[in-house]
Amino acid sequence: MTEMMIVTDAAPAKTPVLPDAQTVTHVKHWTDQLFSFRVTRPKSLRFRSGEFVMIGLLGDNAKPLLRAYSIASPSWDDELEFYSIKVQDGPLTSKLQHIKVGDQIILRPKPVGTLVHDALLPGKRLWFFATGTGFAPFASLLREPETYDNYDEIIMTHTCRDVAELAYGRELVNSLNDDPLIGEMVAGKVRYYPTTTREQSPVMGRITTLLNDGTVFRDLGIDPINPDTDRAMVCGSLGFNKDIKDILDGFGLKEGANSDPAQYVVEKAFVG
Ligand code: A2P
Repeated sequence: MTEMMIVTDAAPAKTPVLPDAQTVTHVKHWTDQLFSFRVTRPKSLRFRSGEFVMIGLLGDNAKPLLRAYSIASPSWDDELEFYSIKVQDGPLTSKLQHIKVGDQIILRPKPVGTLVHDALLPGKRLWFFATGTGFAPFASLLREPETYDNYDEIIMTHTCRDVAELAYGRELVNSLNDDPLIGEMVAGKVRYYPTTTREQSPVMGRITTLLNDGTVFRDLGIDPINPDTDRAMVCGSLGFNKDIKDILDGFGLKEGANSDPAQYVVEKAFVG
């Protein structure tokens, strides 16, 4: 018996199309708890280096499951990069950690955030203070030409529990001098100051302790933080942000915002 073909006017069944879908182009796992990935960039998306967007996947109920992620790539890059923790029972990152090249993610193209140059008054020395995945916005800002136009010196501090958790940041900092686009602008302006708290490394301890007892300034051979010359951007856990804020206030710096630029700005590192 031959199969009978039934022709109807109904549209053929389609695979569901994700809203605001972007395609994964690169994934790298740094540790069993950290990974970075790159996705295509919507042509219409403009952002300032240091800002964040909402990204995610479709949840089990077919509703978008979105979280805030700092964009780790600079504003001039053709693609978008993100740096993420893997939370085994986290609603989003338990799934997101399995993405592969060619997969799609959802990206809401509405960038916002306070870790932007517009929120700081002019200065000479810029401090980036990060813990854990709070490094992400600085991965963007360290590749942003404006950072080098605006400052003579950039000090990137990154505190993690273990040495392996520093790898993404270390590789990024090491790549700056050879970057074809910004290598010449960087020209020795970046000082990198990684510290660990739970595993032996050249600099041990929380950056807050090392600021309070003056170790950072001695190690780097520089003057303490001064409101006339120093500016700072901070991204870490709530506790970290509060402790660094108190220290910066103690040095006489004032917190700024997009609408009211001042001497430092703070953003919470987002956890999926
Ligand atoms: P510690 O190991 O002493 O808690 P977490 O993974 O908990 O977010 O921490 C990431 C890194 O940030 C760890 O090295 C941790 O140090 C450090 N850290 C956490 N809270 C603070 C804080 N309030 N001030 C300075 N460093 C902090």
